[in-house]
Amino acid sequence: MGALTVSEARELWEPAGVYCNTASYGLPPRPAWEALQSALADWHGGRTSWEHWGQSTEGARAAFARLVNVGVERVAVGSTVSELVGSVVTALPARARVVVPDVEFTSTLFPLLVQERLDVRTVAPGRLAEAIGEGADAVAFSAVQMSSGEVADLDALVAAAAAAEAITICDATQALGWLPLNASRFDAVVCGAYKWLMSPRGSAFLTVSERLLERAVPHSAGWYAGEDVHASYFGPPLRLAENARRLDLSPAWFSWVGTEPALEVIERIGVPAIHAHDLTLANRFRAGIGLAPGDSAIVCADLPGAADRLRRAGIFAALRGGRLRTRRAARRALAHLLARLQRRRRRRPGTRRAGLTRAGAERFSEPLRPLGYLPARRRASDHRLDRLRAAPWRGLRPRWPPCRRSPACSGVTPSSASARAAWASAVSPAPLARALIPDRGWSLVGPRCHAPARTRPRRRPTP
Ligand SMILES: Cc1ncc(COP(=O)(O)O)c(C=O)c1O
Repeated sequence: MGALTVSEARELWEPAGVYCNTASYGLPPRPAWEALQSALADWHGGRTSWEHWGQSTEGARAAFARLVNVGVERVAVGSTVSELVGSVVTALPARARVVVPDVEFTSTLFPLLVQERLDVRTVAPGRLAEAIGEGADAVAFSAVQMSSGEVADLDALVAAAAAAEAITICDATQALGWLPLNASRFDAVVCGAYKWLMSPRGSAFLTVSERLLERAVPHSAGWYAGEDVHASYFGPPLRLAENARRLDLSPAWFSWVGTEPALEVIERIGVPAIHAHDLTLANRFRAGIGLAPGDSAIVCADLPGAADRLRRAGIFAALRGGRLRTRRAARRALAHLLARLQRRRRRRPGTRRAGLTRAGAERFSEPLRPLGYLPARRRASDHRLDRLRAAPWRGLRPRWPPCRRSPACSGVTPSSASARAAWASAVSPAPLARALIPDRGWSLVGPRCHAPARTRPRRRPTP
């Protein structure tokens, strides 16, 4: 299959609104969704045997190895990050001193803390490299912190660990998929695939170095960790794989059926392209809310009340520790809305006022697909309201006659009185409506376009 550009790839997703929540869970691209539906249908009807579902695990393992630049023999599979980290920490000797950032996600931290034989210390993320140098035997950290979006200084950590001969355990769950990362630099890289790898929940990967593999105890080994998987169903002796597969956990089939095609899509787009695209969007959003440019696809901000407003506008983001967190598609229109809410945006003379232009709005999200099912009790107007809530630019049409006052104006106006009413009730009385709708007229853009929007003159019926 050929390469995909970011804009071609966009067609493969069908979000119901503006989705900025990939750090919670990623949405499946169409090939992953369809493969999963077909496997579920086979399961439902008992139409096939199970072996080919298992084969998806191997396809996904190979794709992941390519993604992170290691040999496939170094990749183990599991269902969750915490259980894979649980296997890795068995390689650490008793009383080993392990340093971890104090904001670390607990799926990486708890498997260490439960091991009372280890001496685990937490430090501020900015002090991690220094703490390694103070005599750590191992370091465990996220490449990108979930709570803040902060990207770890991987070069500094690798250098400090090499100097101290410390084992490096990197949780790349919030990184892989958008951040290029070479797993061969670390002793262990663990990654849950249901976020930026846009897979179903229930598939996770682990890469291990030679030295870690030698010491790790495969305490959850079962038939799938056997040297010959299908000859490992019954009875002794213990006959585990020589390579990282010995750390495998038996695959949750359907998760892997969705994971393999999702990884193929990422490969076709290419992580460098996704990285550039995501950073552009995230930095537009940062600019809109008055933050300096950053290096992360995850944006965290203290915007009081913003989460509620975004939800009402059909934008999915998340609150973590009281802070708003948006990811992946932190789109320009979203930045504009927030900027206006915050009243921080300063207008330069002669520039266009921020607003939801049709072009901006379309970039904001995929258009909604028509609903396949409309319950009888629902009135058509309810249906239209739902669609407007999810895609408020629907029912708008280019301003007529086209505005000539400002070349920058690409104004739109609701196409009819009923669209206007539906549009207003879809967004008002939310404060967003005030942000979007100027007091007079229905033009959504163009500060210099004070002329009220006029509608196209009706054609006289020919006698
Ligand atoms: C950095 C990080 N690691 C791991 C996980 C998930 O861990 P687990 O698969 O054990 O639930 C998350 C989930 O948000 C995460 O952000």
